[in-house]
Amino acid sequence: MFVSKLIFAALAATTAIAHPGPDHAVPRAEIQRRDGLAKQCANHAADFNRRRIAKRAMQKRWEGSGHNTTFEITTEAPYYDTIQNDTCVLNPEVTQGPYIWPRSQTLRQDMAEDQAGVPLWLDVGVLDMATCEPLPNVLLDFWHCNATGSYSSFTHLSPNTPFEKLLAELNITDFEIGVTDLHTDDTTFLRGMWPTDENGVMEIKTIFPGET
Ligand SMILES: *[C@@H]1O[C@H](CO)[C@@H](O)[C@H](O)[C@H]1NC(C)=O
Ligand SMILES: *[C@@H]1O[C@H](CO)[C@@H](O)[C@H](O)[C@H]1NC(C)=O
Ligand SMILES: *[C@@H]1O[C@H](CO)[C@@H](O)[C@H](O)[C@H]1NC(C)=O
Ligand SMILES: *[C@@H]1O[C@H](CO)[C@@H](O)[C@H](O)[C@H]1NC(C)=O
Repeated sequence: MFVSKLIFAALAATTAIAHPGPDHAVPRAEIQRRDGLAKQCANHAADFNRRRIAKRAMQKRWEGSGHNTTFEITTEAPYYDTIQNDTCVLNPEVTQGPYIWPRSQTLRQDMAEDQAGVPLWLDVGVLDMATCEPLPNVLLDFWHCNATGSYSSFTHLSPNTPFEKLLAELNITDFEIGVTDLHTDDTTFLRGMWPTDENGVMEIKTIFPGET
């Protein structure tokens, strides 16, 4: 999963922050804090239709990002009408980024392209962790590798080469997260973005990577 690390490093955050694994133990107090946050919102997740946060997020994200894209979207109905309270509740952790690569930005609800795998529909609900209210119009950005570890836009980098070695091979000595551009091409498979609807939910289709 070396390229996994690479992509997270290049696009999202430091690997340590994006993937706190066993070697980056999260302190017990922090786990308790997150647990509390998740619990605090559990009821609201079930009851998320009460109030709505006024327009936000998507507009802001585009402003000042050097893009002038304006678009009107009619979202397809997600499978669930409301945010489900029996699924994962994520806590804020990564605050760096996003590091947008315009050529691989893909506003769509089907990001599978021709990649092999089991069709997978993701229904995602977004809550404001401070107020526990659903957040409409939040643009969610997804990307993942294919069954053999390759990420689109980076297909010329070997997924089997450790990141440090990769940098050495590329003669890069001043790698900086979000600054150093390691993209190799404009392929877009397994990347997609879509906004939440007025109920704070969105649906996007991809594949669970695997050979068929
Ligand atoms: C989740 O929703 C169900 C059905 O509305 C409700 O019975 C249950 O108490 C909720 N659980 C939490 C943790 O809010
Ligand atoms: C974006 O829009 C502004 C105002 O209409 C314009 O001045 C600017 O040239 C546009 N930028 C691009 C990259 O199209
Ligand atoms: C993953 O993507 C790479 C680069 O495009 C490709 O060579 C490889 O065949 C893909 N893997 C699968 C399982 O399709
Ligand atoms: C990196 O530097 C070495 C030694 O100067 C050179 O042989 C190699 O072609 C360079 N690689 C790249 C990708 O520039």
